[in-house]
Amino acid sequence: MAARKIIIDTDPGQDDAVAILLALASPEELDVLGIVAVAGNVPLALTQKNARIVCELARKTHVPVFAGCDRPMTRKLVTAEHVHGKTGLDGPQLADPTMPLQDRHGVDFIIETLRREPSGSVTLVPVGPLTNIATAFQKAPDIVGRVAEIVLMGGAYFEVGNITPAAEFNIYVDPEAAEIVFKSGIKLTVMPLDVTHKALTTRPRVDAFRSMGTEVGRMVGEWTDFFERFDKEKYGSEGAPLHDPCTIAYLLEPEIFSGRHINVEIETVSDLTLGMTVADWWRVSLRPANATFIGHLDADRFYALLTERLARLG
Ligand code: RIB
Ligand code: CA
Repeated sequence: MAARKIIIDTDPGQDDAVAILLALASPEELDVLGIVAVAGNVPLALTQKNARIVCELARKTHVPVFAGCDRPMTRKLVTAEHVHGKTGLDGPQLADPTMPLQDRHGVDFIIETLRREPSGSVTLVPVGPLTNIATAFQKAPDIVGRVAEIVLMGGAYFEVGNITPAAEFNIYVDPEAAEIVFKSGIKLTVMPLDVTHKALTTRPRVDAFRSMGTEVGRMVGEWTDFFERFDKEKYGSEGAPLHDPCTIAYLLEPEIFSGRHINVEIETVSDLTLGMTVADWWRVSLRPANATFIGHLDADRFYALLTERLARLG
């Protein structure tokens, strides 16, 4: 079967980095047409640099990296250095990338790719704020019907918020963009905190990364050591949630995950609950279902897949 064509839209971020590595380690299943950076965890100047660092670590410098939007559609940028560190990839010492950043704006790359590739053949995988995706849909409404599927990391229901009491970070940074995506009518699979908080970087799992004896394994081990300190302290958990790789793992082995096809709407008005994903998990409203909202995963299978694939990168 031909590899599924995907575009990864990302704000690296240690967990974004692991998601990108997982995708690049799976060329038989996934054809990464391009990686588009967005402002999120850290400003765009860093997320586009970090995306290139990750491609070089994977030795996949043929994958084009683009810079997208440097701020949300209408609001001020909110970043998360308190979680990811000043660089966004704190943990190991990292050399500056040498592979080039593409000249084209990331939004134009998304538009041109969706117009060029056969309709229904490209999946979008956003794992940061949805600014680039929504901006592309606004600039070129004709591409909306050409998207095969969107598999995104964002939102929360039972886990409620991680950046405010009500909202998850990716949705909170650009709720207007999220509303455009969730109302687009495109086949949508959502990896919220409800499932990512069950994918914890426990010590045996991080040790498995390190025992690969590869540069990738060492870097992922150091990234998770840094990344997990915040969540372990906040939640008292035995590891941190490895959010973004859940999207790629879903594309590789969807049976690891389970959820419900329900209505999910975005709060864009109330300051108190701005960015909340109002997920009708119990189907109490008459609002039509617009998303497959994932609530559970087999965490051991997830980490077995992740470890096996990352080991391929050497
Ligand atoms: O809330 C978790 C999400 O916000 C993840 O995508 C993480 O990388 C940050 O972007
Ligand atoms: Ca992210």
